[in-house]
Amino acid sequence: MSNLNQEVNRRRTFAIISHPDAGKTTLTEKFLLYGGAINLAGSVKGKATARHAVSDWMEIEKERGISVTSSVLQFEYDGYCINILDTPGHQDFSEDTYRTLMAADSAVMVIDASKGVEAQTRKLFKVCGMRGIPIFTFINKLDRDANDTFELLDEIEKELGIATCPVNWPIGSGKAFKGVYDRAGRQVVLFSDTEKGTKEGVTECISLDNEEELVKIIGEEAYQTLRDEIELLDGASVEFDLDEVRSGKLTPVFFGSALTNFGVEIFLQEFLKMATNPLPRKADCGLIDPCENDFSAFVFKIQANMNKAHRDRIAFMRICSGKFEAAKEVYHVQGGKSMRLSQPQQIMASERKILDEAYAGDIIGVFDPGIFSIGDTLCTASKKFAYEGIPTFAPEHFARVRQVDTMKRKQFMKGITQIAQEGAIQVFQEFNTGMEEIIVGVVGVLQFEVLKYRLENEYNVDIRMEPLPYEHIRWIESKDTDVAKIVGTSDMKKVKDMRGNPLLLFINAWSVGMTQDRNPGLVLSEFGRE
Ligand code: G4P
Repeated sequence: MSNLNQEVNRRRTFAIISHPDAGKTTLTEKFLLYGGAINLAGSVKGKATARHAVSDWMEIEKERGISVTSSVLQFEYDGYCINILDTPGHQDFSEDTYRTLMAADSAVMVIDASKGVEAQTRKLFKVCGMRGIPIFTFINKLDRDANDTFELLDEIEKELGIATCPVNWPIGSGKAFKGVYDRAGRQVVLFSDTEKGTKEGVTECISLDNEEELVKIIGEEAYQTLRDEIELLDGASVEFDLDEVRSGKLTPVFFGSALTNFGVEIFLQEFLKMATNPLPRKADCGLIDPCENDFSAFVFKIQANMNKAHRDRIAFMRICSGKFEAAKEVYHVQGGKSMRLSQPQQIMASERKILDEAYAGDIIGVFDPGIFSIGDTLCTASKKFAYEGIPTFAPEHFARVRQVDTMKRKQFMKGITQIAQEGAIQVFQEFNTGMEEIIVGVVGVLQFEVLKYRLENEYNVDIRMEPLPYEHIRWIESKDTDVAKIVGTSDMKKVKDMRGNPLLLFINAWSVGMTQDRNPGLVLSEFGRE
């Protein structure tokens, strides 16, 4: 196998999705710990340092008042080169969170065992589902009292519409959590308490049939419950099928506790085996194989103002084929120009380092003098093509935005347009009127603050924002629809985006269905196309 093949095949690029507080950060830290990327040398201070390592990047940006980024972390484990794309939750939730999923080959879904499926998970899951990427579930916090395991699985299946296949099964929860039953090996993996500073408490594997020994350790009752549950599980659950997993139809489920390191390494090992290496991606000339010699990448995120002193931007791109070499020229398809990428860098745990080479599957950030847009393709001049665009995700919050000083209309429009080009906000106007009214839509409310801050600081424009009650937006897919003739509901508003595409805004979810019913032939979509 060529060096390129080897490098690409050992890469695993995934995003971790979860509702805030389910344990995404803790799990990421533990992954880094196993990969040796951080060192928790034996104290609580170590933990704080580790947390710092992961969140550092975001903190720096927060200080600058414009956070909202997804970190990319790279580390090595057991011969694999792992890229983790962090998808911020909380108030940082934004379009970037969604776009990050466009750059990942699979997703790890962390669920809190006492909470089950939560709102943010549902949203992120939808985007993963749209791409059909494999999803691996880690049910976390088993060291606390958990919901019934069967009910948790049922909830995932019903709420998210994906079949589940438990790879292991928890033995008790809370104080009674003893370990997991490994279904393939028909053995019980027992965990002892983790000692501070060690990677994992001592694990011990005992065959399920060694009743005497197991009863001694976990007790008669827990043993009987386990046997009953396994019987039920073997009778009821779907067979494990790697193809189904890889096409995103079946999610392997693991149990553990990220905080106490129970089941984390088992999960990491199994996950790495099941997850795919970088796969071919669709372009306008067909599928592009990641092991092709020609370099190609697409831009999935643009981050402005990484450096306060200059108004600089970093474009994050996912390499889709070949090898990136800093010294070589690349071709920017949308700009129609050959260029050398400036200051290519990669983020390793907390550090950013300038890199000389990277491979398909990796994410690099390059200095952007204002030429890149989300979804742009970079390739070689000898083989030009464009990757499929990144969908525009439906904003969920809307506000009417005006500049306070009417004399500053020009700066206001310039700022709004540039920030919209970076993909941080979406801008709409009344369908029938001219330029006057600007409606801004965002995925996460923090973006409104970012917009205000940036307009004031970078464009010297004060704005006034008036929140609008719309929560649902639909693009009109049917080409021959006469928008003026659409019969809507009383809460519906017709707007157009920056490219002139018509859209409908609704306050109530049911109005969407109602409008669809009233207008035969009207096709509405939750995602826009670039
Ligand atoms: P997030 O990134 O998904 O938002 O979650 P994060 O890892 O920050 O975890 C949220 C809280 O849950 C943290 O507690 C964390 O320590 C705790 N946690 C994570 N995994 C487990 C687990 O397996 N078991 C238990 N019992 N708790 C877990 P915190 O009090 O908010 O923060 P900290 O004081 O521990 O830093």
